[in-house]
Parts: sequence; C-alpha cells; structure tokens
Amino acid sequence: MNLSTELNERRMYVDTKLDEYLPKECEYPEIIFKSMRYSVFAGGKRIRPIMLLAVNRMFGGSDDIAAPYACALEMIHTYSLIHDDLPAIDNDNFRRGRLTNHKAFGEDIAILAGDALLTHAFEVMSEAVCKSQDIKGARAMNAIAHGAGVNGMVVGQVVDVISDGKKLNKETLDFIHLNKTGALIQGAFKAGALLAGATDASVELLDEAAKKIGIAFQIQDDILDVTSTQEELGKPIFSDEKNEKTTYVTLYGIEKSTEFVKQLSYEAMSILQSFGTRCNFLEEMTRYLIDRRF
Ligand code: IPE
Ligand code: IPE
Ligand code: MG
Ligand code: MG
Ligand code: MG
Repeated sequence: MNLSTELNERRMYVDTKLDEYLPKECEYPEIIFKSMRYSVFAGGKRIRPIMLLAVNRMFGGSDDIAAPYACALEMIHTYSLIHDDLPAIDNDNFRRGRLTNHKAFGEDIAILAGDALLTHAFEVMSEAVCKSQDIKGARAMNAIAHGAGVNGMVVGQVVDVISDGKKLNKETLDFIHLNKTGALIQGAFKAGALLAGATDASVELLDEAAKKIGIAFQIQDDILDVTSTQEELGKPIFSDEKNEKTTYVTLYGIEKSTEFVKQLSYEAMSILQSFGTRCNFLEEMTRYLIDRRF
C-alpha cells in the first residue's frame, strides 16, 4: 500500500471514531454540538492522531484501545485552531476550507465550542482510563495534558501573541514553535508509546524525534503561509504578515527555512531508524511532511 492510501485509510478510521466519541448534533442545545462538529469534520489532515496510533502500533498496541486518546488529541488540536482564529488572536476567516467557527457561529459560540472540545477530550480519555483500569492509559492522558497546557501548546500561543510586531531571535521563535506546535506532536508520540507500555528509554528517544518533527512542521506552516494559496491550504495566506509575526521566513527567507525543515526531518528520521523496520510508516510520514503543500 502506498503512503497516501495508507494515510487516507488511517484518516478514515480516526474520523469514524471521532464521530462515535462526539455528542450528536440533535442533542439540545443543538448549536454547540453543531459548532463542535463543524470544525472537527471540516477535513483536517489528522496527523496527530495518526502519529499516536502509529507509535502505539510500533510497540504492539491496538488501535481500538488507543482510539479514545487519538481522538481526544484531535479534539484538543481542533479547539486550539478555533481559538487561534478568533479576532483576539489571529483574526482569520477561513479554516479547513470553510468559514472559521466564529464566522459561522459567532464569537461566543466559537469560544464555547473550543472549551467544549477541550473538556470533552478529557471526558473521553478519563472514561477510557476508568474502563480499562490501566495505569498506562492515565500516563497517556498525562502526556497529552502536558502537551496541551501551560507546559506546552498554551504557553507557545502566549509567547506567540505577546510577540506580535516584535522582532524575535531564533531562540524565542524556537520556544514558540516547540510549544505551540511541537508539544502536541510530542504528546502524540509519548501517549502512543506509553499506552503500549514502551520503555522509558524508547519514550525519551521518540520524544526527541517528535520535537524535531514539530518544529519542522511549524516552519513548513510558516513557509506555506507565503508560498501556498488559500484554495490549497484551506486557510488564508499571509496571516503571519498581517499579524506582524516573526517567522522562520522573516528571519531566514524561504530557501534557508526549507533547509531547516529538511535538516530537522532527517534528524528525526535517523532517530526513528534506530527502532528498525517497525518505524517505517512514521519515517515515511516524516519524509512526506517535508514537502507537504497543505
Ligand atoms: C495547523 O495544523 C496548525 C499548526 C500547528 C501549524 P495542521 O496543519 O495539522 O491543521 P489541520 O489539522 O490539518 O487542519
Ligand atoms: C498556531 O500557529 C498553532 C496553534 C497552536 C493553533 P498558526 O497560527 O501559524 O497556525 P495556523 O497557520 O493558523 O494554522
Ligand atoms: Mg496563531
Ligand atoms: Mg493562526
Ligand atoms: Mg500558520
């Protein structure tokens, strides 16, 4: 099976499970469930849940046991996008090929849909932990919480927004990228490994690879912000320029930024190779992300 067919299949699996774990639209009050589902099912790439499931498989874990954690991670990611697009943050009008949540439902409901997705993620994961009575599930949930909160994504977003209009050095920019984007990807890798009972040494190595993949992913996002089209990306281009962000592109230009993406991805792939053939899918996925167009 080639990689894009494989990615498609895994995306469909994640979508089916997300549909199971999210409240139905017909429940009262419909607007909040519609708003949550509107953003979740707008067609994200699902790279984080796919990574979690792939790492879990590497250590012999089952997709069905890992699914609640993978879906919770995608719910948290989707909440972060809804809030990132708000007028108070990036003020963007398109996401995943449709109007942003606040444009479709209003700011009040968009804020609440984000809150609801974040909280529901923890409901889904804690239910799985209670059902399994397995500490491995609690460890996975902890890794995801760590990646999402003030030790991860949120703090990255904080430094990102307070830096608007300021010229940053590489160190601060890497702090932002590592946290706003890297931390959830680290959460995906760690949770997948912990759920399957991988050793501490394996978890640490995978975390190192995830960090590199995370920074590379955000550098590529910065590049696409100036080289892609809204049609291809599903979100507006030149959002960073509009918000006077320092990015890899403003610091180094497109060519050098592309080199950073390659370098970091190759470093991550070489860590993955140390796990042997069971890491082939993740390695291929890392290579594929280097020249993603959306
Ligand atoms: C967008 O993430 C936000 C970043 C962290 C760069 P993705 O590029 O994974 O967005 P979706 O989930 O596919 O929409
Ligand atoms: C934000 O980075 C990443 C999040 C944590 C949501 P960006 O603001 O660059 O993400 P996009 O370009 O809007 O997807
Ligand atoms: Mg942003
Ligand atoms: Mg944004
Ligand atoms: Mg961006």
